[in-house]
Amino acid sequence: MTEVVVVTGYDVLAEVYEWLISDAKLPPAEFAASFDDVLSLLPSNAHVLDCSCGTGQLAVGLAGRGMQVVATDASEAMVRRTSELSEEFGTSVRAVQASWEELPVHFEDATFDMVFCVGNSLHHAAGAAGRGAALESMSRLLRPGGHLVLTSRTWELVRSRGSRLDIWDRLVRRDGRDAVVVYRWEIAPRWEDEHHIEIAVAQVDASGLVLVRSELLSCWPYRYEELELELHRAGLRTEVSTFDLEAENYMVVASKI
Ligand SMILES: C[S@@+](CC[C@H](N)C(=O)[O-])C[C@H]1O[C@@H](n2cnc3c(N)ncnc32)[C@H](O)[C@@H]1O
Repeated sequence: MTEVVVVTGYDVLAEVYEWLISDAKLPPAEFAASFDDVLSLLPSNAHVLDCSCGTGQLAVGLAGRGMQVVATDASEAMVRRTSELSEEFGTSVRAVQASWEELPVHFEDATFDMVFCVGNSLHHAAGAAGRGAALESMSRLLRPGGHLVLTSRTWELVRSRGSRLDIWDRLVRRDGRDAVVVYRWEIAPRWEDEHHIEIAVAQVDASGLVLVRSELLSCWPYRYEELELELHRAGLRTEVSTFDLEAENYMVVASKI
């Protein structure tokens, strides 16, 4: 019998998440600016949802541009950190704890002009069925003609490298503290199997003490062509795709039919 361990995770990593975000995307305005092209599709004071908001940099950056922003995440700690960041920047992001499947319980259909699911989040949906349900929820919340913006790892590349340990070759400094970041990739034999990523952030304080926070996260990879089909099944038409088998990440923008 196969034992499936579903780790929703991120409540521990939420406390040290800024050590995992690149320098360039740490300021909320910069994170939002990385989506300038798609944001030009929006009406002024658009209603937008970031449905895997993490610590809230994108949501707060979008609110700083005058948009009506809702931020959701399955992790309670991530939602708390998003509210704190919003307060710190004087924006009014509405932060709600909700997994993708729960979104239709919280929001009416056709509420949003744009839904973001970015930063390597969708692979946490449990397999093809979980991914389909998640995309269906996101699609329901979009008004006709609205857009889903999704970014993803190129899993074709990740799987080809097999199980491994990635230790970042530089210290990451945040709030005056240095940390070493380690990713342990557990690549299962088959695409459809549950995979794991263990992420550890080892902070070194001024006295040389090391504090390690780590989490084992479950994920279910997908091929780009599967994702395209799944988007289509959820009533979304791909408008833009930066998919490239040789690039680490890609973005898909799909419109609600
Ligand atoms: C890698 S982080 C990305 C966070 C943020 N979007 C960013 O770019 O920094 C993945 C996020 O997805 C959230 N997540 C995982 N499973 C989820 C689910 N089923 N529903 C909603 N959010 C989920 C996690 O809690 C985490 O905040």
